[in-house]
Amino acid sequence: MPFLVLANFKSHKTIPEVKSWLETIVPVFEQYQDQLEVIIAPSFPHLHLLSSSLNSCAQDVSPFPPGAYTGAVNAPQLKDLGVKYCLVGHSERRHFFHETHQDVANKVSELLGVGITPVLLLSEKDIVPQFAALDDSLVDRCLYCFEPPSDIGGTTTAPLDVITQVIGQIRAHTPAPLLYGGSVTPQNIANLLPLNLSGVLVATASLETSSFNSILEVIAHAR
Ligand code: PGA
Repeated sequence: MPFLVLANFKSHKTIPEVKSWLETIVPVFEQYQDQLEVIIAPSFPHLHLLSSSLNSCAQDVSPFPPGAYTGAVNAPQLKDLGVKYCLVGHSERRHFFHETHQDVANKVSELLGVGITPVLLLSEKDIVPQFAALDDSLVDRCLYCFEPPSDIGGTTTAPLDVITQVIGQIRAHTPAPLLYGGSVTPQNIANLLPLNLSGVLVATASLETSSFNSILEVIAHAR
């Protein structure tokens, strides 16, 4: 299976910036498609810029079905846009938007109901309560990403022994594909490749095409 590389733009970029990023980077990862698969998570207003041949990922979804929920973007609307994946439970959503484990579980169920794969982010302390809140029949249908909040936005990942230990804790709940996120850079990506991971999530280092390109090259040449 190709190694997954998920670019999370968070609340960054304008329409011209997303277009220019795609023009530069898409030819690079098309060249490496046997070794890696890129998933792109821009803001909602930019999802339509991603052609159907790309793996588009929303950064959030409503925990509710379509209805009277002003401002919410629901799972069927994302499906209409060709979205294939959706982040749920990012620590910034849990912290700044006060999302609970039950909100995250409801989002998972809305997404899987329309055939969008949730990418469920977990810090170490979320693991037990989050799996307890999920519907058992849905657990193995998500992708997971271990992301320690204290290691976001820097240049040093969590220690490799901590990542290995937490991989084991998540593996006790599900055999689903598992990513790592948090300060992944061109300088440290090679250290993560020997771990038992299906991919990585990259935010800060995905914003500039030069650093994202370097990450893709390291992965492609290692595989
Ligand atoms: P980072 O962020 O790559 O900038 O550390 C990861 C994330 O929060 O998704």
